[in-house]
Amino acid sequence: MEQTFFFVKPEAVRRGLVGIVIQRFEARGLKLKKLAVKQLDKATVEEHYAHLKDKPFFAELVETITDGPVVMGVLEGVDAIKVVRNIVGATNPLEAAPGTIRGDYGTVLPHNVVHASDGPETAEIEIKRFFG
Ligand code: TYD
Repeated sequence: MEQTFFFVKPEAVRRGLVGIVIQRFEARGLKLKKLAVKQLDKATVEEHYAHLKDKPFFAELVETITDGPVVMGVLEGVDAIKVVRNIVGATNPLEAAPGTIRGDYGTVLPHNVVHASDGPETAEIEIKRFFG
């Protein structure tokens, strides 16, 4: 069994998509181990997206993740990190396949509905960062 971290982004929380996102994970057999609603602060989000700090969209990205509460959680299952990334879909919703969360509900970057850890190291770091 493997654990991974996700959050539903503030724009998607405002659009009422929390239930749909969690339903898709549960429907694939992933188990919710932790779940919380939280307003993230700027420093935490800047740390979370530090790999993108030199990108032109960094300030807008941080702004959109801090402009309302996220719904964040930990999921557990066989190959959970890869399975969740596959359910979530490609980063750019315009390129994400139909049937993926981003392909079905994403609009235009940076609004792509959900974050999910992209590997074992980031999953471990993110679970610690957001749930302690
Ligand atoms: P990244 O970590 O590359 O992708 P992912 O979320 O699929 O792991 O990017 C983090 C977030 O940054 C992404 O979810 C949305 C935003 N972003 C943009 O706004 N514009 C871009 O061109 C990219 C690559 C990402």
